[in-house]
Amino acid sequence: MSTPPIDGGIVVVTGASSGIGAEFARQLAPRARVLVLVARRRERLDALAAELRVGRPALQVEVRPCDLSNAAAAGALADALLADHCAVDVLINNAGLGDVGLFHQRDEAKLLAMMAVNMTAPLVLTRRLLPAMVARRRGGVLNVSSGFGMFFMPGFGTYAATKHFLTAWTEALRLEVAHHGVVVSQLNPGPVATEFEDNAANPTGERIPALLMMSAQRCAKRGIRGFDRGGALIVPGLALRTFYGLCALAPRWLNRLALRLVARRFEV
Ligand SMILES: NC(=O)c1ccc[n+]([C@@H]2O[C@H](COP(=O)([O-])OP(=O)(O)OC[C@H]3O[C@@H](n4cnc5c(N)ncnc54)[C@H](OP(=O)(O)O)[C@@H]3O)[C@@H](O)[C@H]2O)c1
Repeated sequence: MSTPPIDGGIVVVTGASSGIGAEFARQLAPRARVLVLVARRRERLDALAAELRVGRPALQVEVRPCDLSNAAAAGALADALLADHCAVDVLINNAGLGDVGLFHQRDEAKLLAMMAVNMTAPLVLTRRLLPAMVARRRGGVLNVSSGFGMFFMPGFGTYAATKHFLTAWTEALRLEVAHHGVVVSQLNPGPVATEFEDNAANPTGERIPALLMMSAQRCAKRGIRGFDRGGALIVPGLALRTFYGLCALAPRWLNRLALRLVARRFEV
């Protein structure tokens, strides 16, 4: 079983300006040779880069602002990385956003942007960066999916669909390149305390209880540990693994019946 070449490697983290992605960057900084930080908010990336350089002056940190809702921009980012480095060792497709509420009431432009960031950008980046990993028999891709990659729920339909794409695609990709020495894993967190919930903009104003939230630090730590082990589907936390396991055992008709009640909660 291969391990992802994080140590001494060139590691790209998308969505590094906040939440889980910023924590990935902090926790990988002591191990990588080059850390590439990607997101739209340049000032956040610059501040994080400065923090990481103070912590480890030998680390090379690159700030590469990019709007990943634009497939052409994502492609140009990958091409620039290849032009500058020939290959990257590890790609963490973490950038993503959610959208909560009844589908027929949601903003179409935001839904399309979510689909582009959550699905198209990982696809474009991976399509361009993976061939060099395969050729060198050295590489790792960690896709940040979600529990919603395995379940459906009213109010989260389109978000869950984007994560179902990531989950199915990652499973298949993993099998395609495992014998070429490239590790492909996915992280499937439950609720994590980040800016995600604010950006998902639940119109009911309901919030996930803090008790159910995992910290971004812990989520990233579990994700890295699972990735180091070459895990296929990394679910952070025993309670969450148990919950997912029980849900998976329930027949689909029972899920539908229970979730019918949930749909009403999104009426505004
Ligand atoms: N928090 C949760 O409960 C939870 C649970 C399961 C899975 N996840 C997944 O975890 C990942 C990270 O989310 P998070 O919880 O850390 O949320 P977050 O704090 O909102 O961070 C999202 C990151 O994605 C970046 N991003 C969003 N739109 C972008 C765009 N158009 N172009 C480039 N970057 C963009 C943001 O940077 P800019 O705004 O600066 O561009 C930010 O760095 C996502 O894929 C999310 O689906 C989160």
